[in-house]
Amino acid sequence: MSRPPPLHLGFLASHGGSNLQAILDAIAAGTLPARACVVISNNSGALALERARAAGVTALHLSRQSYPDDEALDRAILGALRSAGVNLVVLAGYMKKLGPRVLGAYRGRVLNIHPALLPRHGGQGMFGMRVHEAVLAAGDRESGVTIHLVDEEYDRGPILAQARVPVLPGDTPETLAERVLAEEHRLYPDTLRRIAAGEITLEKL
Ligand code: GRF
Repeated sequence: MSRPPPLHLGFLASHGGSNLQAILDAIAAGTLPARACVVISNNSGALALERARAAGVTALHLSRQSYPDDEALDRAILGALRSAGVNLVVLAGYMKKLGPRVLGAYRGRVLNIHPALLPRHGGQGMFGMRVHEAVLAAGDRESGVTIHLVDEEYDRGPILAQARVPVLPGDTPETLAERVLAEEHRLYPDTLRRIAAGEITLEKL
């Protein structure tokens, strides 16, 4: 098995960035052989940007506020990823759809994490507590985490890894979310580790 080139990660995150933090922590601890190159957020107040700065990673606010249209923003994001030397894009709670330029340039090299067992409970509008509410409303006995490749459709790209958690009697969306998030923090760094080790093969850039 040949080892792929070193992972140079570029993150997009809209809010808290706890998954970003779990990955930064794994890099800092030496358990994930990767470099965090840049963190981009559409939200200037995102905690994710603060987490990036605290770790010494370039933090950029790129949004429609500063670009006239979606195409200009798409170009700006692609430019930022390329100039930071990114070879793998990691979506970590990014609430916007990526544009065709970024998706084209990084085809097969954009990862997303979803807080349920896709293909169940995914698609447009399924994010945050809505996902956990849907799992409970459906009476599912288990939920979990999915890491998948990103393509033009929300939550539809090939699945790379999943982890399961039980749905427990008396669960609320919040208690289920907490159990799922703990698994997210384990599975995202672990999946990146497997990519770095060549155990999961991605498209070449
Ligand atoms: C996570 O639940 C993830 O599955 C979803 O967005 C949330 C991001 O959380 N895509 P955080 O910003 O990493 O804390």
